[in-house]
Amino acid sequence: MSEVDNRHLLGLEGMSREGIVQILDQAENFKEIAKRPVKKVPALRGKNILMAFFEPSTRTKMSFQMAAKRLSADTYGISTSMSSLTKGETLIDTVRNIEAMAVDMIVMRHGFSGAHRFLSRYIDKPIINAGDGWHEHPTQALLDMLTIRDNKGGFEGLKVALVGDIAHSRVAHSNIFGLSTMGADIHICGPYPMIPMELEKLGNVKVFPKIEDAIRGVDVIMMLRIQLERMPKHLFPTSREYSTIFGLNRKRVELAHKDAIVMHPGPINRGVEMEPDVADGPRSVILDQVTNGVAVRMAVLYLQMLQMGVTQ
Ligand code: NCD
Repeated sequence: MSEVDNRHLLGLEGMSREGIVQILDQAENFKEIAKRPVKKVPALRGKNILMAFFEPSTRTKMSFQMAAKRLSADTYGISTSMSSLTKGETLIDTVRNIEAMAVDMIVMRHGFSGAHRFLSRYIDKPIINAGDGWHEHPTQALLDMLTIRDNKGGFEGLKVALVGDIAHSRVAHSNIFGLSTMGADIHICGPYPMIPMELEKLGNVKVFPKIEDAIRGVDVIMMLRIQLERMPKHLFPTSREYSTIFGLNRKRVELAHKDAIVMHPGPINRGVEMEPDVADGPRSVILDQVTNGVAVRMAVLYLQMLQMGVTQ
């Protein structure tokens, strides 16, 4: 269901190595378009892409829009507050009505885990998951993986630490699926109620209670935001306590490999999961992740469209 050679991109769980590499390689090819004076190619000219964002988004929404426009597609947007969902219409009816206006593809973010899979039973057009609840955020993990590959050359045997709210993070889940498929060793760390222990069953995932142990010797440190909007209040003590126990500061970064890179999908809560001097420091590749996001989304839109036989 989730592979690039299938109709939809719902997640990285179950996607093959070849599927991941195909997207990363295509994204690598597309990067160069951003450096041209005219940042546009005609690959998806005349195609209509719906951007349905039913949850807040800055980077992801803008990145998908830019990706579509760089491929010359036309984009149309809806959000919860401005759609008939507020008048009681169901998600299926809303999307079916828009499908009836001949859209070619649907990029969607939704607060419910599994919303995309559910919708895919009723919609013929390709659906790209731009984040579903706690579940998956495949294009974020793919752009993270492109950034890792740019800096480290590959994934086999690479040590990657994911620190923060793993349980509620769709970014963590997609990265864990994608990176373990590619042969990386994953260290996960965070407050106990936010660590799903069953992840260790994946084989190359290990849980570390202390951040110092999780990041010692790793090649990549990926910090994640506490998803306060997705948890009951009592799970989280205070920001100060969290940053003391799990926050990334310069001293802790020194425990990682001397060439380790520091990542964050954004939005960052500066001073909570990461100190500002680390976020803006020499190891940080956070803005490279954002740059790579456009190329990765171009690759996903293009390859999914190609799969449907609708590119020119
Ligand atoms: C993430 C998201 O929305 O899942 N952000 C993003 O897409 N860049 C991470 C987060 O909200 O913490």
